[in-house]
Amino acid sequence: MTSKFETDFGTPAVQSDQQVTLTIDGQAITVPAGTSIMRAASEAGGSIPKLCATDSLQSFGSCRMCLVEIEGRRGYPASCTTPVEAGMVVRTQSDKLADLRRGVMELYISDHPLDCLTCASNGNCELQDVAGQVGLREVRYGLDGANHLQDQKDTSNPYFDYDPAKCIVCNRCVRACEEVQGTFALTIEGRGFESRVAAAGGKDFLDSECVSCGACVQACPTATLTEKSVIQWGQPERSVTTTCAYCGVGCSFRAEMKGNKVVRMVPAKEGPANRGHACVKGRFAWGYATHPDRITKPMIRKKITDPWQEVSWEEALQYAASEFRRLQTQYGRDAIGGITSSRCTNEETYLVQKLIRAAFGNNNVDTCARVCHSPTGYGLKQTLGESAGTQNFDSVMHTDVVIVIGANPTDGHPVFASRLKRRLRQGAKLIVIDPRRIDLVDSPHARAVHHLPLRPGTNVAMLNALAHVIVSENLLAESFIAERCDDAAFSKWRDFVAQAECSPEVMEAVTGVPAADVRAAARLYATEGNGAIYYGLGVTEHSQGSTAVMAIANLAMATGNIGREGVGVNPLRGQNNVQGSCDMGSFPHELPGYRHVSDDATRNLFESAWGVSLQNEPGLRIPNMFEAALDGSFKGLYCQGEDIAQSDPNTQHVAAALSAMECVVVQDIFLNETAQYAHVFLPGSSFLEKDGTFTNAERRISRVRKVMPPLAGKADWEVTIALAEALGYRMDYRHPSEIMDEIARLTPTFHGVSYARLEEKGSLQWPCNDDAPDGTPTMHLNQFVRGKGRFMLTRYVATDEKVNSRFPLLLTTGRILSQYNVGAQTRRTANVAWHDEDRLELHPSDAEDRGIAEGDWVGIHSRAGETVLRATLTERVQPGVVYTTFHFPESGANVITTDNSDWATNCPEYKVTAVQVVKVTQPSEWQQRHRSFTQQQQALLKGRRKVVTEPGR
Ligand code: SF4
Ligand code: SF4
Ligand code: SF4
Ligand code: FES
Repeated sequence: MTSKFETDFGTPAVQSDQQVTLTIDGQAITVPAGTSIMRAASEAGGSIPKLCATDSLQSFGSCRMCLVEIEGRRGYPASCTTPVEAGMVVRTQSDKLADLRRGVMELYISDHPLDCLTCASNGNCELQDVAGQVGLREVRYGLDGANHLQDQKDTSNPYFDYDPAKCIVCNRCVRACEEVQGTFALTIEGRGFESRVAAAGGKDFLDSECVSCGACVQACPTATLTEKSVIQWGQPERSVTTTCAYCGVGCSFRAEMKGNKVVRMVPAKEGPANRGHACVKGRFAWGYATHPDRITKPMIRKKITDPWQEVSWEEALQYAASEFRRLQTQYGRDAIGGITSSRCTNEETYLVQKLIRAAFGNNNVDTCARVCHSPTGYGLKQTLGESAGTQNFDSVMHTDVVIVIGANPTDGHPVFASRLKRRLRQGAKLIVIDPRRIDLVDSPHARAVHHLPLRPGTNVAMLNALAHVIVSENLLAESFIAERCDDAAFSKWRDFVAQAECSPEVMEAVTGVPAADVRAAARLYATEGNGAIYYGLGVTEHSQGSTAVMAIANLAMATGNIGREGVGVNPLRGQNNVQGSCDMGSFPHELPGYRHVSDDATRNLFESAWGVSLQNEPGLRIPNMFEAALDGSFKGLYCQGEDIAQSDPNTQHVAAALSAMECVVVQDIFLNETAQYAHVFLPGSSFLEKDGTFTNAERRISRVRKVMPPLAGKADWEVTIALAEALGYRMDYRHPSEIMDEIARLTPTFHGVSYARLEEKGSLQWPCNDDAPDGTPTMHLNQFVRGKGRFMLTRYVATDEKVNSRFPLLLTTGRILSQYNVGAQTRRTANVAWHDEDRLELHPSDAEDRGIAEGDWVGIHSRAGETVLRATLTERVQPGVVYTTFHFPESGANVITTDNSDWATNCPEYKVTAVQVVKVTQPSEWQQRHRSFTQQQQALLKGRRKVVTEPGR
């Protein structure tokens, strides 16, 4: 169902250097050449009746509702399919046009239920509006003839219904699925009167190829496809623009509200990251925010075996502060630390690192980027000079060859994937480098030219082999390199990759990929125009994660694919605010803006702003905190919005470290896995309950706006301020905008960023500075941030995690579309309809060797531990490789991942674990222990001593 909170211009905007002036209803109008008459009229404030047209889709010309008269032309052309011409004179209203439109509308209404008053779309239905607009007063054909009024509804999708009785067969849904989403799940079945929309590949929507992105629902002009939430609660009354809190695409949404209740989330057409599109998570999976599992009262306990005690905010904060001070007195200033969250806003993250540096007095702050994109920060800084991706998402529409390596965008970054698929349908070429046959390898009307299914852990070997071809076959962008890159570093690199040891032929034994395929892919990337590389955690989460990021940057520089639209190095960030949490100084060695703590000038700046002296040595990283906890020197942790007990590798090690601490303070919306080891629980706020900003993978800073009051009375930023005060350190902010003002004052790349500027511009892509006050969509335009681009040597070093006869298979991990990260949110939504357990994918030949059938329980053993999952047999994985997701705590995927990590950043090597898989009949020992520990913790929660506190206290 379309939204009443935005204008629909009927057909998409057209970009053209040429302007055309025509006259519509006596008014002279100038628009870009190629614009439709419908859009021109609409931009001038007019409104031509329409049903099959909408401005997110190419015009189709089927409903005949938008007819106009054009002087000098015969007949009544459709305004949606007729482009403007200079000097054209158009009439949109006449008696004849009114008759024609009424006639068409009469036919539609003759096969449409007349239940407007009780219809969920009443007041927001284009059919209803257009019937009124054309002045339809009677329907002569009656409803007693053949009609579709008894057609069965399809209510199988958990989020929307399909009611064929209301369908006018305008085809908007089918086109939305094709053009916007790129899934091609819908067709019109039957012909003429019999024609109806059908979801392909299954008996109903849920069972079909539909991925529940909702584009069809948004495009439907009637109540045929309607959100269940709208059916249940009625039409929204107001809307607030905000930003999705799931992945790093950072889609802009309008939260459409009724009072304080979200009725639906509608992706904003003006959103630069998503251009009106969304995925099943952002559009539909927001119900977790008001889930009954939300904990909205602060709680404390002395020991993790004690029942929780609800207390006032004041008591909880005083208790946490006194414990932290006690631990520092007893064990030293560095005995405590904190973890910031990529789920939280920039302002909240900034405050947490400030609290740790200024109030704890140490640099023991880290963030979950440690376990995902820390190698991106390191690798891109070394080579290009800035720890961030180089492009915006629009850039992909100017790309000719795309390399996707170690990323699965259709699941992890679905809205970007839709944009990429659109570009592929326009003719761009795709190279996929991934051990698995991800969906992009062969999606409808968009196939990869090359899929290089390398062995897990061999990215650097593959990237060096690609570079070898580029160097040895003289495919280098020599003038770019001469002008833009450091000569000496380039020469060394060229000599290094030119060696036979880097050749595809030698590397074939390592990667498992035929040399000829690697050569062909390298030639394609280097020679076919604009080449762009998109990568994800399949690159970073390796023992050579940072090396691989540098190898990617090397490739881009060697081919001149950097510094303009359509090219670049593009990390697809996992969580919504990974970029932001890194920007905000969440690492133990860096203050906001990636400035090292040892830099005196930077430290002086913050010291005078914060009124404290700061340590000049880096603090502990997350894995070091765990080690120190087990050594007995690290005793207290403030963990905001992260679930390290589930997300970090080697779960048993993490659990032991948490158990060894004396005061764990968890701030979250649910009692997550980490909170089961906590002594203080501070209720968090969801993205719907607070103001702030997120920074997406494009470096785009976008507003998060409060649409409802915090359920626990305080937003996360307010809690951190209160904790700082309890520790005796005053933070004086009345609104997150004041925190942003401070960030902008102290961080050169955020110069001039303010809520007022964000309001004015919609969003800003940092760096913002005097040269680029409106931000920087494409980085490194004329020169690299570091001056000359620096090629880095990227020698391939095999991981220590090797297969042998005991552990003969390689496990790699990833995400699925419907679930998100540790699943704390999506598991509490109807998204479980698509994925309600993590499964182990294995190749049928490996399964046969082990006597494993589809759905069998299998034990997965690694050097770190053992867990049990059910098996899915699939040829998506190659023989010798198994794969799982990690969305459910009881799966214990991280019980088996090891402590190995990236040499430069300690980012865990999640993507390579040597395992054995055997058929079993019962859960693993760890799972049994985990189940009983969880039950015990749930009982302690249930039995908590409750107090009645005023909200906000
Ligand atoms: S379901 Fe909606 S969008 Fe699709 S054809 Fe029917 S009326 Fe048009
Ligand atoms: S929800 Fe998305 S994938 Fe499913 S049919 Fe509609 S447009 Fe296609
Ligand atoms: S693509 Fe990412 S940001 Fe966009 S709606 Fe989906 S989860 Fe949210
Ligand atoms: S809106 Fe133009 S033909 Fe349907």
